[in-house]
Amino acid sequence: MAMRILWPNLPARLVTVATEAVGSGFELQFHEKFEDVSDEQWAKADAVVGGCPPPYIDKLKACRIFVKYGVGYDDVDIERFGKLGIPVCNVPDYGTREVADHAIALMMTLAKSVAYHDSELRADLKGNWRPQHNPFGRRLSVCTFGVVGMGRIGTAAALRAKAFDMDVVFYDPYQPNGYQFAIGVRRADTLAELMGQCDFVSIHTPLTAETRGLIGAEAFAAAKRGVILINTARGPVVDIDALHDAMKDGTVQAAGLDVLPEEPANAQRRLIAAWQKNEDWIRHRLLLTPHSAFYTPESFRDNRGFAARTAARYLRDGRLENCVNKQFLIPKV
Ligand code: NAI
Repeated sequence: MAMRILWPNLPARLVTVATEAVGSGFELQFHEKFEDVSDEQWAKADAVVGGCPPPYIDKLKACRIFVKYGVGYDDVDIERFGKLGIPVCNVPDYGTREVADHAIALMMTLAKSVAYHDSELRADLKGNWRPQHNPFGRRLSVCTFGVVGMGRIGTAAALRAKAFDMDVVFYDPYQPNGYQFAIGVRRADTLAELMGQCDFVSIHTPLTAETRGLIGAEAFAAAKRGVILINTARGPVVDIDALHDAMKDGTVQAAGLDVLPEEPANAQRRLIAAWQKNEDWIRHRLLLTPHSAFYTPESFRDNRGFAARTAARYLRDGRLENCVNKQFLIPKV
């Protein structure tokens, strides 16, 4: 009997991408909404691809692998899947380049005052024709670019920064010794050491118990005055109340955030409220994007296609790729 792969939440336009990635020999079941999947389909699925919110986990009876879209899996109960003997896999490589590009785009938008000039000109086309007035203007080649979390995306961002002749340094206690020499950058042993020397700091860690609030009051206290902060990783890694204070007192000159502790943005937060009201002190100093760093049409398709391929390879060949819950995995009897 053909093995069943279930997509409980796949937009119809992406069915072809998933079908092509899987190849032959499987029975594929596509649904656009979780509610459309019957209990029998949950129970009989050999693999689930895409999403599997908590209420549906207990309905899985035959499932041998769950592949979630995207890199971060902080929203998946990987321990629960592990105890059920189900490997959880992510798709770590669909948007590496896009997110690194986005981090650099936020940096450049600020460093070259692009958004600033655009909005000033819109307000007064003739009066604000002032190229020298460039509040964040910096010659990048005399700046230090710091990466917190030197994995795939952090490395891709570092290589881009190197191409701008920037001095690049990273902090990542989990990268092996010598990684800095392999890609020709410097390494900081502590976060404080990194913060104290960087003109730009770009965050690329996963969200874990250790990284939640990592960039908070203590990190800002160690920062070089006037640092520009970029976060395209996960919102809660940056304590945005502490960021508010650090921006208000000038420790942080500007910030570009693709991710926030609450998404959509919570207007009750002091930083968001000040930005939304366009208060004088924060005007032009905070750039927000709506967790869009990962997106291009290509990465969107790759996310679906790579996830499908991961499930198919495991069912067909027993090849387990990108498993993120090995530590909890109890073999099925
Ligand atoms: P990765 O796993 O390759 O790299 C993460 C790096 O962070 C690793 O080298 C790890 O050692 C390091 N790290 C872990 N804990 C740390 C700590 N306490 N201090 C310093 N470094 C630490 O992951 P990848 O592919 O580079 O992705 C990074 C993050 O980017 C993801 O976890 C995800 O949250 C975020 N992301 C955001 C997207 C967006 O659209 N904004 C899209 C894709 C990923």
